[in-house]
Amino acid sequence: MSATTTPNEMYNYKVVRQFAIMTIVWGIIGMAVGLYAAGELAWPALNFDNPYITFSLIRPVHTNLVIFGFGGCGLFATSYYVVQRTCHTRLFSDKLAAFTFWGWQLVLVGAMFSLPLGYTSSKEYAEMEWPLDLVILVVWVAYAVVFFGTIGRRRIRHIYVANWFYGGFILAIAILHIFNNLEIPYSWFHSYGVYAGVQDAMVQWWYGHNAVGFLLTAGFLGMMYYFIPKQANRPVYSYRLSVVHFWALIFTYIWAGPHHLMYTALPDWTQSLGMVFSLILLAPSWGGMINGIMTLSGAWYKLRTDPILKFLIVAVSFYGMSTFEGPMMAIKTVNGLTHYTDWVIGHVHSGALGWVAMITIGSMYYLIPRLFGREIHSLKLVEVHFWIATVGIVLYVASMWIAGLMEGLMWRAVNSDGTLTYSFIESVAAVHPFYIVRFLGGAFFLSGMLLMAYNLMRTIVGVQPVEAPVPAVA
Ligand code: HEM
Ligand code: HEM
Repeated sequence: MSATTTPNEMYNYKVVRQFAIMTIVWGIIGMAVGLYAAGELAWPALNFDNPYITFSLIRPVHTNLVIFGFGGCGLFATSYYVVQRTCHTRLFSDKLAAFTFWGWQLVLVGAMFSLPLGYTSSKEYAEMEWPLDLVILVVWVAYAVVFFGTIGRRRIRHIYVANWFYGGFILAIAILHIFNNLEIPYSWFHSYGVYAGVQDAMVQWWYGHNAVGFLLTAGFLGMMYYFIPKQANRPVYSYRLSVVHFWALIFTYIWAGPHHLMYTALPDWTQSLGMVFSLILLAPSWGGMINGIMTLSGAWYKLRTDPILKFLIVAVSFYGMSTFEGPMMAIKTVNGLTHYTDWVIGHVHSGALGWVAMITIGSMYYLIPRLFGREIHSLKLVEVHFWIATVGIVLYVASMWIAGLMEGLMWRAVNSDGTLTYSFIESVAAVHPFYIVRFLGGAFFLSGMLLMAYNLMRTIVGVQPVEAPVPAVA
């Protein structure tokens, strides 16, 4: 390698760029569908009696596109970038990497069209039918080969901790996807799952919870461990803690699934086990959160002037909040109040918007200008985006907490003669104003995404080069 090799020549940035751009594209589409769904909950007439845009059909479009489109593309982009940079080597195979990009887009387009048409296996976050499940499997195996193959040809002995988190996420998602989607096809677009009854529920929520733990958490912790130190220009607060964090987190997450099935036909001891492991999960989660935030020690002043760092640090704070709230909701008696209410939706979005989206947005603001060798078009717009997004999350999450608490209390209120104090429809009427506030919160957040798309588009077509040649590393 010559001494004037640029990162653009040395690394495969093409696939990282493609995934990074699609992160924003799918983010906007997925959140726009989410906003429409929020609108339908506030004003049901918005479904215009059209079955294809009815709430129940567009809800999974929203969840699939934000989780696998926005979150998934963000994870592909950053993991491919981080593994190359920290291993000082090019991706194991450019062709396979390109295959993962096009294969993943095929899956997402497939989801976008098949779900509104009603082709669904009815398993939450695993709704796609068997042909798409097979494509996911093949793409995921290719992803694992590219990622671990790159680790295998690294030029540095040490494997940086972010790669452990990405690697853990890739392996866990493969196992979850295969076992939860074991099904017998009976036509081109329909299948029966192999599990039945309570086993079906157990396997589904073992999957569902670990999709949260590994896709929506472990992979994004990989982002945290790379992009926060980079943007703050500080080493990770405690490297030892990061390794303990990794092993403790993956060991504990895998047992906590039954907290989604409290007071169901699941054996009682299984529910208690899920509750205990959820409570234990607070420790590794907060260990990681503290490690991320404390990375800024000695550099707190940077938060005043650096909006990208604000995104990253606020994300980690929301991670702390949602991983405190989760274990509390897993306590059986608390779950008796919160389950089926909008509190769960508030918890989901404090994790999904506050943690997942904010850390992804911060990482994209770091990454995209560097990938295209440009200076960011406007830091001022990044600052504006930060505040719009934060206000949006607060409106969304706070309105759902209040709505959830109201629902929970109204549903369990009884008169002295044992009859229910409120009818169900009274609780629906009571939460209506909060559904409108949630819609506003979502509109704020989506506007921020559009601003980001504009800012980064101007960045990409800008003129100032940012990256100097790097010295050869081997
Ligand atoms: C503009 C931003 C967003 C809006 C307006 C929005 C809106 C919604 C709405 C209306 C629902 C259905 C709630 C219900 O069933 O009562 C929902 C569910 C959900 N959303 Fe979002 N969302 C947004 C962003 C996101 C993001 C970025 C993610 C993930 C990264 C996400 C993940 C989810 C999940 C997992 C659910 C299902 C929750 C559950 O079943 O408990 N959302 N969202
Ligand atoms: C220590 C960590 C966490 C624990 C123990 C935990 C626990 C819980 C509990 C008890 C529920 C409610 C189940 C119910 O009553 O139906 C729940 C729902 C949920 N949580 Fe968490 N949570 C944690 C962190 C997170 C994070 C960081 C995210 C997002 C990034 C997240 C996403 C979700 C989703 C999507 C659901 C809704 C699942 C569904 O019903 O569709 N959780 N969580």
